Amino acid sequence: MIKIFSPATVANVACGFDVLGFALHTPGDQISMALNNTGRIELHDQTPYRLPLTPEKNVTAVALQSMLDALHSQQGFTITFLSKIMPGSGVGSSAASAAAAVFGANELLGRPFTRPQLVPFAMQGERAASGTAHADNVAPALLGGFTLIRSYTPLDIIPLPHPPLYATIVHPQIEVRTSDSRKILRQEVPIKKAIQQWGNLAGLVAGLFTNDYQLIGRSLHDVIIEPVRALLIPEFYAIKQAAIDAGALGCSISGSGPSIFALSPDEATARQAAQAMHAHFDRLGIDSHLFVSPINREGVKIMENEG
Ligand code: HSE
Repeated sequence: MIKIFSPATVANVACGFDVLGFALHTPGDQISMALNNTGRIELHDQTPYRLPLTPEKNVTAVALQSMLDALHSQQGFTITFLSKIMPGSGVGSSAASAAAAVFGANELLGRPFTRPQLVPFAMQGERAASGTAHADNVAPALLGGFTLIRSYTPLDIIPLPHPPLYATIVHPQIEVRTSDSRKILRQEVPIKKAIQQWGNLAGLVAGLFTNDYQLIGRSLHDVIIEPVRALLIPEFYAIKQAAIDAGALGCSISGSGPSIFALSPDEATARQAAQAMHAHFDRLGIDSHLFVSPINREGVKIMENEG
């Protein structure tokens, strides 16, 4: 039996809708996983979230099943969800579960796949969760660090180097489903906006490569997705300004929201941004949960091996 930690992730990172993401140290999912002789995936839930335990309806089992199908394997697994990122929070809750399951199964089966080869299986969990097999949460959850999805067909994932960065996550206690948050997006982009967006995305990647904090800050702008999704988060722009006034390099919506992330060059600034954002939600009468974490370079991992 193995116990696995799988990290929360921030997808999009402002200008990189569906193509950019990074992993956190906290929060994360914890599962235990073992082989069984039933030929089935059996799920147990010790979290407060009443997760669906029918394999066809559970993103973890869907991801694992796609991996077993690729191996033509009838192997049974028993998975217990020990603790879980709150579903619908915007920090890759479904991705963490899917990554944990395919990573854990790969370990228990003697590593038939490399970590990058696990990404397409975890993406099937995302398809089940949101209707789209996006990889910008599962890739950093599996590989750690910052990842760029240069292409989906064929899948081409580029791990990006980065200077020390601290993420602040503020999770207001409102639920936004990724599937709903995707439905409201416009399907066409004016060329002027596209020019701004790809300029910022290239600038952000260049800033990460050259450890240029100012360039990273200048590039953390989303002119396409954020203006639409900001409507789902009360006083989003005031909260974003509060984070930047506190010294953060930039701030935007984490994944499909409602969590908001900020990036800072050091932990003290990240904590100041957290306080400023939290205080703003407090004034609105909205409870919010805070996380401050450096970028997690490792990704999903085994916590302890009891077998
Ligand atoms: N790129 C996805 C979206 C991430 O923004 O819909 C969801 O976490």
